[in-house]
Amino acid sequence: MSPLLRQWGRAAAPSPADWPGLIEAYRSWLPVSEATPVITLREGATPLIPAPAVAARIGRGVTVHLKYDGLNPTGSFKDRGMTMAISKAKEAGCEAVICASTGNTSAAAAAYARRGGLRAFVLIPDGYVAQGKLAQALVYGAEVLAIRGNFDRALSIVQEMAASYPVTLVNSVNPYRLQGQKTAAFEVVDALGRAPDWLCIPMGNAGNISAYWMGFQEYARAGRCSSLPRMMGFQASGSAPLVQGSTVEHPETIATAIRIGNPVNREKALAARAESGGAFLDVTDEEIIAAYKLLGGEEGVFCEPASAASVAGLLKRAEEVPSGATVVCVLTGNGLKDPDCAIANNDAAFHTDLEPTLPVVAGVMGF
Ligand code: F0G
Repeated sequence: MSPLLRQWGRAAAPSPADWPGLIEAYRSWLPVSEATPVITLREGATPLIPAPAVAARIGRGVTVHLKYDGLNPTGSFKDRGMTMAISKAKEAGCEAVICASTGNTSAAAAAYARRGGLRAFVLIPDGYVAQGKLAQALVYGAEVLAIRGNFDRALSIVQEMAASYPVTLVNSVNPYRLQGQKTAAFEVVDALGRAPDWLCIPMGNAGNISAYWMGFQEYARAGRCSSLPRMMGFQASGSAPLVQGSTVEHPETIATAIRIGNPVNREKALAARAESGGAFLDVTDEEIIAAYKLLGGEEGVFCEPASAASVAGLLKRAEEVPSGATVVCVLTGNGLKDPDCAIANNDAAFHTDLEPTLPVVAGVMGF
């Protein structure tokens, strides 16, 4: 039983209403003060879900858990970074924020900025943002600029904008983003009572892998865990600059969230790999979709394609996982973000246009 479950066994079960959001929960670990106005949607405290069907494909006593960050308020891990980035932007007196995004950052930036009373400008690659994410940015009240170019081009424009105009950049080059995101590593250790042996994670701009590594290291230094995980980073084959070791000019993948050819956190991610004895690997779109279907159809966990890259990568390297190891795969975003992908990629029996009668329904069911 995990330490958290043991603790809850003794007292009354905590109500989700008690969770104050990650800044209050991890205040002493974060660069905030009494002067920081905390902008929160009670993000964090996402579940670590056992994945027996994934583990069964590896065997040898390996256990696999899914850190399901798709259950954050805007449906992705970006909320962890955005509660910090927007709170600190507001503390500094800023009135507008800007980001480039493949979709999730724009949703989170819009939600937190508007909640904090700031304007939110988001640049997205026209035609390459999943419908759910675009819908969110619009409903949360962002000012959306779709450019005829990819994420990397959008990021270089917003970096120049933030250098020249009074708008604060909230992409993961903003150091407060990674500070917020490192709390996911704290939660993993708090739930397991130890660090995992392997941490499998998708990489795009490579901010999240860097944040997790920072979190694990800080917890280890403070004696909260006695070991550190190997950081296993996965990219889609059509956009794998960190695996290839060079920028990809025209990144392509079904996992549009990680369709990035020139990651800004390259150096930090390479350091995480070197210091943790980790590895980077690419997974094909076919492998990503196979893992996506396995997670949905056998684990009951619906994630977006980019998130499934962590499980696809784990299964691709299954032979290297030590017997008895504890593995955590990070599921960065909710499957509802990308309904088009879901409808186009499933093996479900979907019977349409049926006569509304009992014999027809019973017949289709095989009775
Ligand atoms: N998974 C999802 C669902 C993402 O949205 C992203 C990045 C990643 C993984 C990769 O994380 O960039 O820290 O390595 N999405 C960004 C965005 C780029 O604009 O929403 P990373």
